[in-house]
Amino acid sequence: MIKPYGAGQLMPLYVADEKERGTLLNEAENLPALEVSSAVAANAVMLGGGYFTPLAGFMDRQDALHVAREMHTANDLFWPVPVLNLTDSFAVKPGGRISLRDPGTPGTPVLAIQDVERVEALSDEDIEIITRNVYGTTDQTHPGISAFMSLGRTLVSGPVRVLNHSYFELDFPETFRTAEQIRREIAGRGWKKVIAFQTRNPMHRAHEELCKIARDAVSADGVLIHMLLGKLKPGDIPASVRDAAIRKMVELYFPPNSVMVTGYGFDMLYAGPREAVLHAIFRQNAGCTHLIVGRDHAGVGDFYGAFDAQAIFEEQVPEGVLEIEIFKADHTAYSKKLDQVVMMRDVSDHQEDDFVLLSGTRVREMLLAGEPLPPEFARPEVGKILMDHYQAG
Ligand code: ADX
Repeated sequence: MIKPYGAGQLMPLYVADEKERGTLLNEAENLPALEVSSAVAANAVMLGGGYFTPLAGFMDRQDALHVAREMHTANDLFWPVPVLNLTDSFAVKPGGRISLRDPGTPGTPVLAIQDVERVEALSDEDIEIITRNVYGTTDQTHPGISAFMSLGRTLVSGPVRVLNHSYFELDFPETFRTAEQIRREIAGRGWKKVIAFQTRNPMHRAHEELCKIARDAVSADGVLIHMLLGKLKPGDIPASVRDAAIRKMVELYFPPNSVMVTGYGFDMLYAGPREAVLHAIFRQNAGCTHLIVGRDHAGVGDFYGAFDAQAIFEEQVPEGVLEIEIFKADHTAYSKKLDQVVMMRDVSDHQEDDFVLLSGTRVREMLLAGEPLPPEFARPEVGKILMDHYQAG
């Protein structure tokens, strides 16, 4: 099986031993508590699940700046996005242990225990360096940047032990999976080649066909649909609705046992190319051999070029660092001429009018107006789930 990223073995920071977890939970009750933000909690959940192997915890300022500028930690580990515990609380002192409390679960229970190695203030210049490099802009209307700017300026670094998977396990019991669980399931199914599809949206016909084209192109044994279950920007479709729509599509339109429908507990960064590289790392950790990167992967608005998230793998990821391979997909859409979904690069004789193209805004307008989506664009059963969601207000 494909090796985890940067380590001989997966390093989930979740404390799996029940007795040890109980002891740590007891200890946590008497530790100074830091109620973290959703984004920081999501980082802990990803560390807990092994997705962020080989990291042992939250990065310090030096690593954050190195990663932002050079995509390497100070110790020369290739890594695309700083993994930070940022807060606006000044109460934390270096040297001790703290409990991280989870804002996403009622009663803000303990999510993790952290050894506090350093507590450092980020300057305006530091914030500028991080946002410009990671998001490619400092524009505060970028939803990833506005989320990042709201986290606070105090960086609390050090190793963590994670004690649960936040609300993801309870809210999405069928779908939330750790990297460790996915690896185990892939091994159990005997799949050798697995192609991962990242998504934060319901899947329409273009996405379905993209998965099938990619699966066939690399002769994959199976597809891992791996959806983001964390926070999105306002207006995006909630995870429960996406999950239902995707499950229906897989049930009706894919061969049985050829797809694993799963999700991970992370908030969307909208960091385009850098996030695509992070996506590749955590799919390798989950045991996938390939990742689909299509048009405007992890993008938002017009902050990134349509294929920047593919170019970064050629231009900025050192050769041989990642074992997972990227399946670079062209814009995919339904061709009226051919009566099927195609990748645009495969049909050079087509004009824009030959495709059924609907923007996200247009899709929303139609569903709000009770107008069914064209069957060339969305499977009717998927369209119905989305319609019910919009009509319920
Ligand atoms: S993302 O933020 O998670 O990337 P989305 O769920 O819309 O957003 O996309 C999932 C994956 O499908 C990404 O790799 C994206 O590039 C790709 N993708 C989405 N729509 C298309 C399309 N019409 N043509 C080609 N690739 C697409």
